[in-house]
Amino acid sequence: MTSVPQFTPISFSAETMADVQRIIAMFPEGKQKSALLRILHIAQKEFGDWLSPEVMDYVADLLKIQPIEVYEVASFYTMYNLKPVGKVLLEVCRTGPCCTVGAERILQYIERKLGITVGQPTPDGMFTVRGVECLGACGYAPMMQVGEKYYEFLTESKIDQLIEEFRQNPPETR
Ligand code: FES
Repeated sequence: MTSVPQFTPISFSAETMADVQRIIAMFPEGKQKSALLRILHIAQKEFGDWLSPEVMDYVADLLKIQPIEVYEVASFYTMYNLKPVGKVLLEVCRTGPCCTVGAERILQYIERKLGITVGQPTPDGMFTVRGVECLGACGYAPMMQVGEKYYEFLTESKIDQLIEEFRQNPPETR
């Protein structure tokens, strides 16, 4: 007998839903879309640190907007993950000032060291690296963001040290 795959409907927990409804109610009727960025952050946190198409459809339904309106926003901002990411997300700035002092080299070094390419989690689900736009710390280039912390004046040896630290003691990234 073949087993039928179980479909788990996507739904916020009761506690999260109360928070979501409170945020939606802050906006006038017909303007619920204004809550989209905040709701997407909450959805990402609640549903495994990424926004699957099913999760985005769920958010669209809650806000009474078209799914395409959610996809457009979620794909514009790099803080939303459209694919699963590792527990530790290394966001290396790759805008002009950082590039002039070696950001690309740092990014490639991380890829080689972890045996992954940009956007791909390590097989143990620990790390993902990606390039992002200017993080406003150009004077400390090259730099990266991990969770809410900035790591500046990066060198290959500093990356070795940080990755070791993150393995031992993963930073709070969400
Ligand atoms: Fe990298 Fe501004 S260019 S922080």
